[in-house]
Amino acid sequence: MQVIRAKDYADMSRKAANLIAAQILVKPNSVLGLATGSTPIGAYEELVRKHEAGDLDFSKVKSINLDEYKGLSPDNDQSYRYFMNDHLFNHVNIDKANTNVPNGLEPDAEKACREYDEIIAASGGIDLQLLGLGHNGHIGFNEPADEFSKGTNCVNLTKSTIDANKRFFASEADVPTQAYTMGCASIMGAKKILLVVSGKDKAPILKKVICGPVTPQVPASLLQLHPDAIVIADEDALSEI
Ligand code: F6R
Repeated sequence: MQVIRAKDYADMSRKAANLIAAQILVKPNSVLGLATGSTPIGAYEELVRKHEAGDLDFSKVKSINLDEYKGLSPDNDQSYRYFMNDHLFNHVNIDKANTNVPNGLEPDAEKACREYDEIIAASGGIDLQLLGLGHNGHIGFNEPADEFSKGTNCVNLTKSTIDANKRFFASEADVPTQAYTMGCASIMGAKKILLVVSGKDKAPILKKVICGPVTPQVPASLLQLHPDAIVIADEDALSEI
């Protein structure tokens, strides 16, 4: 695991965008594994800037997102498909037909997960997987558990996740209770992994991820075993190491 220290959120975002841009430059038809959440937004803004400056061509890029709420349509402004369109896809020349997010509208969980695993397999493998880090060490929606998940799975959202998310919805009843997420083993199958972490509130969990034992109770600790995992974290996030 290589750790790159960034000064602050803006520096972390630029460094992450540079790495993603380099990946696209050396392999224009890269398969990018992408994440939502607040942490990668700055990196997406940098990528859009590079594209607008004429320095980055997404025309051959394919993308596979980590997760999606079960029951939300792509038009729902809380869906992860909407997030990706809004923060990246609508602003670069990626072919939306080459972008993938789990199908939140598929009620049959087994079918939704199987189909997403088929998409991952058919892509030929993820070249670069971007990840954010949950406060409990989750990656994607893979929460602390007794064992690491394998392929795409349907998770019941924890009470704390529902509580944290309800501010974005009209009422608590509108907050989805389940989500589809790529599994830990699929994430580990990516050729390169880039974990971005920012802020003092993430410092305790980042310490466990980097220095603690590899355990499914801290799903991101599994990244210690990946042959090419890079963490780009700002000084606040690294303040306990
Ligand atoms: C998002 C995702 C989540 C987030 C994590 C951190 O697609 O899979 O694991 O990366 O919850 O979220 P932020 O960046 O909002 O702190």
